[in-house]
Formats: sequence, structure tokens, C-alpha cells
Amino acid sequence: MAAETRTVIVTGATSGLGLRCAGTLAASGGWTVLLAARDPAKLAAAAERIEMDIGRRCPTLKLDLASLTSIRKAGEECARRLDSGELPPLRALVNNAGLQVHGPMQRTGDGFELTFGVNHLGTFLFTQLVLPLFVSPARVVVVTSGTHDPADDGRIAPPLAIDATALALPGEDDARRLSGMKRYTTSKLANILFAYELARRHPELSVAAFDPGPTPDTGLVRTAPALVRGLLASTMVRRVLGLAGIQLNTVAGSGDAMARLVFDEVGWSASGRHYQAKGGRLVERRSSALSYDAALAAKLWGDSEGLTGVVPQPTSSVGPDRHDAA
Ligand SMILES: NC(=O)c1ccc[n+]([C@@H]2O[C@H](COP(=O)([O-])OP(=O)(O)OC[C@H]3O[C@@H](n4cnc5c(N)ncnc54)[C@H](OP(=O)(O)O)[C@@H]3O)[C@@H](O)[C@H]2O)c1
Repeated sequence: MAAETRTVIVTGATSGLGLRCAGTLAASGGWTVLLAARDPAKLAAAAERIEMDIGRRCPTLKLDLASLTSIRKAGEECARRLDSGELPPLRALVNNAGLQVHGPMQRTGDGFELTFGVNHLGTFLFTQLVLPLFVSPARVVVVTSGTHDPADDGRIAPPLAIDATALALPGEDDARRLSGMKRYTTSKLANILFAYELARRHPELSVAAFDPGPTPDTGLVRTAPALVRGLLASTMVRRVLGLAGIQLNTVAGSGDAMARLVFDEVGWSASGRHYQAKGGRLVERRSSALSYDAALAAKLWGDSEGLTGVVPQPTSSVGPDRHDAA
């Protein structure tokens, strides 16, 4: 097995697709996988589970994407561990962490609506803090969802207009009007707009947007009503969906496809592409028409900087000489 000469950070590595992706990356050899998530006990359990499989323990990082303070601390911690040589050079970031919030609207400690705050703003800020730590060539994967596309899986709850301030700081009336699913699909559209804008602003990076496809058996719908969770878990319902041509993926298939975007270097020579897991395969496909709106993406980027307190940086900040590149 190759020596672990490169670091990849996987956010949301304690459950579902992130845990599978992290385990597959760790088993692939050559990568030190930094498991990042909000709950230290779950992080320890994830590290232990992967260690049982591959005989090596992954390092962990506490990162709560619902807290600007926690994200900034995590960014500083990454810089310290990379600078000290405790971690090998940083070559990849998998922005996988995400949630759906069903039921009454919730807010982060900073006052942002929770879904948009975690899925988009938290991911945006963490990526900005990590950018200067990369050694080229580096890859960023942003996990999106086919539900962002009203012409695809997003028919049920098409996303809202992308106005970062209104989405981050909705009034109580808006909060009552909006379903958890609409907040989710909107945050996933924001993820794709962010991925494409990151690719435009940082041509030295290889950015991939990734849709795992409908993948039951993760923790994503944990706050959905019991009836919905029951239906999604039902073998009969899954069979009917299959007969209707709706292909459900497995956690292993989609998690491994996510990992391949890093260790197999799928599409590293391209940037700003959108991939989807289909069964165990990884296919490149177009995302929604709106996701290619560059003016909308640039506005979202600027508004997100304002909301998270990011100081605008020159477009190319990846440090090729940060370490002796491996
Ligand atoms: N499953 C699907 O059908 C599907 C389809 C399309 C896209 N996706 C996307 O795939 C990604 C992974 O979802 P999943 O299905 O694997 O769900 P999951 O099992 O619930 O995993 C989500 C991960 O994100 C973490 N997370 C949640 N809130 C966080 C926060 N505030 N700070 C840091 N980490 C946080 C969770 O940590 P905790 O365990 O501590 O909550 C968990 O590790 C998400 O971005 C989701 O939108 C999933």
C-alpha cells in the first residue's frame, strides 16, 4: 500500500455517505483522511469503525457547520496541523456534510436558518478557510442533490429564488410558509452555484459537484415524519419505485462513487463539472439550467462573504509551495 502522502478532509464523515466515502478513501492507500464532523463521540466511533476495517486510525476534526466560531476554529486547527507536519499536504476537500430540517424552522447560533446556514453558508466559509492551505493539484468536491433541479428529482419541491440574505435570515412569516424540503432543495442549488463559481474563481483547483442520487438508509431524513421514514424504508415501496424507473442507490455505491472523485482522480483535469452516482457508476451530467447562471453565482458568493465575514481574497490563493509537494 502507498504511503499516506496526501490529506483529504471529508466533512460529515460520521454517518451515511460521508462515513462510507471516508472509509473507502482511507482503504485506497496514499490518503490521510481527516474525519470532520460536529459530534466528538460520533467522530471517535467513525474513526474506530474505519480502524476495524483497515487497521489504521484516521485523525479527526471537530467542525460544527452551524457555528461560524466552530468553523473558524476548525480552519485554524487545520492550518496548525498541516504547518506542523502532523498531517501531510492537503490535496482534497469533500464537502459532504448536510442536513434536511423537517418541522418548524430552526436557526443556527448565529441566527441563520439552519438548512441554508449549514448546507451552504457553513460549507462556503469552511472552504474559504481551507483554500490557502491546499497544495496544487487539489480537488474540491461539493455534494449536491438532484432535488435542486425542477426538471429532475426537484419536481416535488422546486427551489426558492436564490437571495442569500433572505434565505439566511427569513422573517417569521416566511419561515411558516416554507417547507423543510424547499429549504433543502434551495440549499442544494446554492451548493452547485458555489461549486461552479469556485471553479471559475480558482482555476488552479479541480472542482466537482456531485449528486449521490436518491440513497435511502442514511440519516438524511431523520427529522421527517415517521410515516415518510416508514415508506422510504419499505421494501414494497422501493420495488414500486424501481418499477416506475426511479433507481435507488446504495450507501456503498454512492459513497464509493464520491470517493472515486478523489482517489481515482475522475475528471481531475476538468473543473466545474457535475457528476451523478447511478447504481455503482459515476456519470457526468448537466445540472439544472439555473445552476449555470454565472451572475447569480457571483452574487451568491459576494452575499455569502458578507454573511460569514469572509474578507474577499485574490482569486488564486492555493499555495503550491506550502510544503514540498508530495
Ligand atoms: N441520501 C440521499 O438520498 C442524498 C441524495 C442527494 C444528496 N445527498 C447529500 O449527501 C450528503 C450526505 O448526506 P447523507 O444522506 O449521508 O446523510 P447523513 O447520514 O445524515 O449524513 C450527514 C452528515 O452531515 C453531518 N452534519 C449535519 N449537520 C452538521 C453540522 N452542523 N456540522 C457538521 N456536520 C454536520 C452529520 O453529522 P451528525 O451525524 O452529527 O448529524 C453527518 O455526518 C448531504 O450533503 C446530502 O444533502 C444525500
